[in-house]
Amino acid sequence: MLYVDTHAGRGRHVSGELGSPLVALKTLLEHSYREQLFKKSEFRFFFIERDTANLNELKKELAALGSLPRRVHVETVATDSFESLSTLVDTLRRDGKQMAPAFVFVDPYGFKVPGRLLADLMAFGRVELFINVIWRELDMAVAQRPRAGEGMANTLDAIFDGDEWRGIEGDDVDKRLDQAVALLGKKVGAKWWTYIRMVSGGKATRYLLLHLTNHDKGRDLMKDCIWKICPDGGYHVHQSDDPSQPLLIEPEPDLRPLQDWLVEHLRVRPCRWRELQEAIRPKPWRTTHLNEMIRDLLRKRTIVAEGFSGALSAKANPLLRLR
Ligand SMILES: C[S@@+](CC[C@H](N)C(=O)[O-])C[C@H]1O[C@@H](n2cnc3c(N)ncnc32)[C@H](O)[C@@H]1O
Repeated sequence: MLYVDTHAGRGRHVSGELGSPLVALKTLLEHSYREQLFKKSEFRFFFIERDTANLNELKKELAALGSLPRRVHVETVATDSFESLSTLVDTLRRDGKQMAPAFVFVDPYGFKVPGRLLADLMAFGRVELFINVIWRELDMAVAQRPRAGEGMANTLDAIFDGDEWRGIEGDDVDKRLDQAVALLGKKVGAKWWTYIRMVSGGKATRYLLLHLTNHDKGRDLMKDCIWKICPDGGYHVHQSDDPSQPLLIEPEPDLRPLQDWLVEHLRVRPCRWRELQEAIRPKPWRTTHLNEMIRDLLRKRTIVAEGFSGALSAKANPLLRLR
């Protein structure tokens, strides 16, 4: 499998925290299933960094890891990532080749990420894209409505792979954000788009970490990740001056809207447990939240289960209906 970091950086931040290439690599090297993974798969990391000074720093950090397991390969590439990925796409297409399952992390300084290239990568299938969208600046550029042919209009055409961004509107920034993300997801050809907002100051969204995938499991896994970071279910993290500051109260999710959703769903007609697990995928809640809610409503006798054998569980896939 491939891990591509298109804007790899220096390997370590001034604060001492690891940069994205080291985070990704260490996650694999320290993974509890590491040996099982190595039995089945080979892992190739491509770290692309245009700036040679940054790349040299990154190489030093990588060298400090020592020799890597046989199934792990790391390549650093000193070039423009968008150009090199375009060349890769062209070469694979010309040779009629497929791309190995890939996770592509795009973490640029600016907001210009070519949508067509992302769509080309996605079209190979088995590709997950994870993009740091510099939202505040992108939103400002869209809101200015530059005239066709102007530099900024061309940039926005490249990002959204066409001029449909002109249809993004509304006074509410969150509404514009939803439209922009949906447009990007559609243009890139992703079945699922999932994002977490990074908020600075009061409520203003500074960046979005946007995950695009065509795989249901990719969607489920990304939702799980986001709930781990934001246990209140808010789908946003606050940028803090002191990220290590402990939380005094562990936030709890408000699952009442999930209960409403479930009851409304069963009011239309009774459903199998697993049907509900499928139906919840576009919603923000995790499958585990749904399972807990079903068990809770069964205990309270708000719903009843029928048409199953053995122990009552999601696996037994009973028909659930309102009492
Ligand atoms: C936001 S930083 C990346 C930080 C990194 N992901 C981390 O976690 O440490 C952006 C990096 O991308 C590099 N860069 C900018 N444009 C690039 C391009 N077109 N191709 C490759 N690298 C680029 C910059 O030199 C800079 O080091």
